[in-house]
Amino acid sequence: MNITFLGHATLLIKTKKATLLIDPFISGNELAKDKVAMADLRPDYIFITHAHQDHVLDVETIAKQSNATIVSNFEIATHYENKGFKVHPMNHGGRWNFNFGSLKYVNAIHTSSFADGSYGGQPGGFVLSADNKHIYIAGDTALHMDMQLIPLTYTLDLAILPIGDNFTMGIDDAIIASDFVRCDAILGYHYDTFGYIKIDHKEAKEKFLEADKKLHLLEIGKSIVL
Ligand code: NI
Ligand code: MN
Repeated sequence: MNITFLGHATLLIKTKKATLLIDPFISGNELAKDKVAMADLRPDYIFITHAHQDHVLDVETIAKQSNATIVSNFEIATHYENKGFKVHPMNHGGRWNFNFGSLKYVNAIHTSSFADGSYGGQPGGFVLSADNKHIYIAGDTALHMDMQLIPLTYTLDLAILPIGDNFTMGIDDAIIASDFVRCDAILGYHYDTFGYIKIDHKEAKEKFLEADKKLHLLEIGKSIVL
């Protein structure tokens, strides 16, 4: 499995059987828009954690050019289905077997409105199982106790956690989250994009190291291979 960071909370995951795009926010991201060739993205699936604009801005453009299936909570899936897109609705605690592996929609503590204020269901994260690997994509979330449920059924290879603080967990809570999900390999995301979420990279990495954990911070366009 190849996981490429496309800025903010946007990830491109290539599994053996499918290409997955998570929370596409590229054209509105000053840090990413000149580095990511959005017109070339042809995912098979687009996963959406919640309806905030910094997670859905480029969903329609990319779904149109790729004919991707949009996977999200029931309300977000219905929103896109009503616009003529292919969707797969899920809800919290539910798992489904896709051609690439399985996907579970799990709890997050956050909010989930569309840019016009309309209802985007409850926010979530995903546990993705593919190519014999399991990864947790937390979405925008606070630290919460339900994270402890994940290792009851999964042995994670990577936890992708927001670390930018203000709108989500910050670094100290993300370290606790990695304990909760029992995974010491962390990919940080949802940082630096706006003033509210700028972080000190060196300090963040040092704090994780002190806790005997490895925090990966990828440059936009760079990948982790699992
Ligand atoms: Ni959000
Ligand atoms: Mn966000």
